[in-house]
Amino acid sequence: MSTGNASGHLHVAAESKAPYDDHTLESLRADALAIIARYPQPRSALLPMLHLVQSVDGYVTGRGIALCAELLGLSTAEVSGVATFYTQFKRHPNGEYTVGVCTNTLCAIMGGDIIWEHISEYLGVGHDETTLDGKITLEKVECNAACDYAPVVMVNWEFYDNQTPESTRELVDSLRDGADVRPSRGPNRQCTFKEMSRVLAGFHDGLADEGVGAGEASLLGLRIAKERGWTAPAGAAPLEPVIVSVPEAKPATAPPAEAVAVASPAEAAAVAPVAEAAAVAPVAEAGDVASVAEPAAGASVAEAAAGAPVSEAAAGAPVAKAAAGAPVGSARRRVVRRRGGEAAPQQDVAPSAPAAESAPVATESVAPAALVDIPAGSSGTHAQGRFGADSAVPAADGSGPAGWDIKGNADSMLFHTPQSPWYRRTKAEVWFRSEEAALAAGFTNALDRRRGAKEES
Ligand code: FES
Repeated sequence: MSTGNASGHLHVAAESKAPYDDHTLESLRADALAIIARYPQPRSALLPMLHLVQSVDGYVTGRGIALCAELLGLSTAEVSGVATFYTQFKRHPNGEYTVGVCTNTLCAIMGGDIIWEHISEYLGVGHDETTLDGKITLEKVECNAACDYAPVVMVNWEFYDNQTPESTRELVDSLRDGADVRPSRGPNRQCTFKEMSRVLAGFHDGLADEGVGAGEASLLGLRIAKERGWTAPAGAAPLEPVIVSVPEAKPATAPPAEAVAVASPAEAAAVAPVAEAAAVAPVAEAGDVASVAEPAAGASVAEAAAGAPVSEAAAGAPVAKAAAGAPVGSARRRVVRRRGGEAAPQQDVAPSAPAAESAPVATESVAPAALVDIPAGSSGTHAQGRFGADSAVPAADGSGPAGWDIKGNADSMLFHTPQSPWYRRTKAEVWFRSEEAALAAGFTNALDRRRGAKEES
């Protein structure tokens, strides 16, 4: 059953840019808000949002891109940049079933290449092309992590194991005929491309626990090992995670932090219990880090030379401590790994750091967030931001106190005034009472920086 021709790539379907009808738009917006609510920043929701668009339109349409851009505060160019990067996002109408033939190494030599040639000729379409009836989009796919069932064919990313040209032809015939088709493993029925896209957007279809997960071929090695009493050879101790806290390396109002860190493995071992304590501590403020490490200070610490980068704590060693004057900022948790109890090589500590028997240890804690005087009419609760009394954290809806017009982005240390063309598109991570307050906190006016870069060029 060959159609002989593929639908073209180079035309854009009329509905791609036509507005959504009211009902569809309302439903899309409701789903989009549910997706966005899962992330601390709206833009992080872009990938599932694009799957959501595909679940409605069958591919990433122009109107879908516009909707994502509007809801996530991005430009349409930014959304398009992501949609064109990943092969799971389709930029032209996709078939009801994406049939992927694995032609990666193992599947290829087990027959994948032959299946591909056969089915491509049978359907009359090539890679990423769709049969004229709109049922099948054919793809060459790379390894699907199912090599133990090679050669593998996927339909909307469900497995069809141990395929042959004949079985694959029967498969596509059944799909085109609307017959009941069931994957080799996983759910008990084959979903459509739109249904699958909705699952990838994060809306469960209830089929996740159906069918076989790890099948016989995947478990064969394990079974043989058990029967013969084989165990893994004794080797290096397994890696175990150690979670330590280090201060933010991004000062706001103070010069770069000086780091204090234990210098030798012996010292690291001496204070190992302290490091362990840090490992299980919840996310700590910079001051807390210092106080955790303080008991170890008497043992022996080496103070990094002034201006040295804030060190990452060596694995198994106590946490690097922020010296007095360290930036006020929340601590980050960093996962490092160690083998057994052995300290890993230390990093980023200035080589000339002199040993100091009793280096001063900063114990100053970050002041807990406190409410500032919020002008009347403000919405939400705006605690004082970490950049001083003239900064405030955004409310849950992202707004700032009334009259606080300056949006700061703490990642880039830029701020935006309402005059900035990026003001509307930028999510505030901190609000400032005034431009002066933002400057005083070490932020740079985004517009000025842009102008400066232009002048230099
Ligand atoms: S090579 Fe085809 S699934 Fe791994």
